Amino acid sequence: MLNNDISKILHIEYPIIQAPMAGGVTTSKLVAEVSNSGGLGTIGAGYMTPIQIREQVQEVKKLTSNFFGINLFVPNHFNVTVDEMEQAKQILQPVREQLKLHHTDDLEIPYFHDVLETFNRQIEIVIEEKVPVCSFTFGIPSREVIDELKRNNILLIGTATTVKEAVEVEKSGMDMVVVQGSEAGGHRGNFMGGHQESLVGLMSLIPQVVDNVSIPVIAAGGIMDGRGLMASFCLGAKGVQMGTAFLTCIESGAHELHKEGILNAHEEEIVLTRAFSGKWARGMKNKFIIEMQNEENYFPDFPVQNTLTQSIRKASALQNNQDFMSLWSGQSPRLAKSQTVGTLIKNIMAEAKKMK
Ligand SMILES: Cc1cc2nc3c(=O)[nH]c(=O)nc-3n(C[C@H](O)[C@H](O)[C@H](O)COP(=O)(O)O)c2cc1C
Repeated sequence: MLNNDISKILHIEYPIIQAPMAGGVTTSKLVAEVSNSGGLGTIGAGYMTPIQIREQVQEVKKLTSNFFGINLFVPNHFNVTVDEMEQAKQILQPVREQLKLHHTDDLEIPYFHDVLETFNRQIEIVIEEKVPVCSFTFGIPSREVIDELKRNNILLIGTATTVKEAVEVEKSGMDMVVVQGSEAGGHRGNFMGGHQESLVGLMSLIPQVVDNVSIPVIAAGGIMDGRGLMASFCLGAKGVQMGTAFLTCIESGAHELHKEGILNAHEEEIVLTRAFSGKWARGMKNKFIIEMQNEENYFPDFPVQNTLTQSIRKASALQNNQDFMSLWSGQSPRLAKSQTVGTLIKNIMAEAKKMK
């Protein structure tokens, strides 16, 4: 049960994938340590430039000779009017003032064609660097991109939040699907239908997806230990993808305030917001989320809003002030521990084996 299809396909000892976490959490040390400890480490490269991707991939290769993965954001069309931009900037102005951020001319708003061009370049680097596994969130890349990656023997993993999305991931030719339950930390990966409809709990999602696709299903959302792994396996999953549990590990690059925040948080403090990025995401409630609660529907879509709040998040982190940082977390913070990757993986497998 614990040594199955996905362990064989991904060349890993244990069916544990460290979730990609874009924004600096997935340091080379974290990724390599996971792969060296028998799981699959994954670089969260969604926000990285192609050059940064090449550098980190080469760094990881120096630290491990085992399989590891990389994760990219599939670009989605977005529209934003000048009025919407101005409105969003005005709403954010009081926050900028609290952080003593005076200049707004650093806000370079992205255009879709540039985002797409960067994505295509990211794919080229993944191929050139022969990264063994590539996963995607926010959608499914074009046929050409999938075919090109497959021609280069790169294993592909898609993300789904509903059965419908999982079926599309399978149809696209991907090798596996991560099912992201509503418990999951970070951005929602939904790409068909509305946000509200995509909030399916993992316990409902796993068996329904398993009944409707034939590719291996990987469970994500609120899994922190051997109990979560075994529960997912009982429902038909072949692996787990864990984010928050790895985020609080010693090797993770998360800001100390982010780690501390999760280690002291309770489940009811973990909420959904679109105020940071224009895309719904789950994280710890803080001053920014509370102040923006009634405004979030006025903000432009991802990645425009993400760009508008970039300097706010950065200044907040630099000032060691957690009030305006995005503190992504899943719904099981009470189970988070400050420990090494090796200890986390060892304990999960020991607990799981005891329950068999
Ligand atoms: C800080 C953070 C950043 C994340 N960034 C990404 C990402 O870049 N790509 C992605 O596919 N998923 C991302 N996720 C979502 C994870 O893949 C996964 O769905 C989630 O961590 C599972 O829930 P858990 O955090 O309770 O384990 C992120 C999650 C967190 C906590």
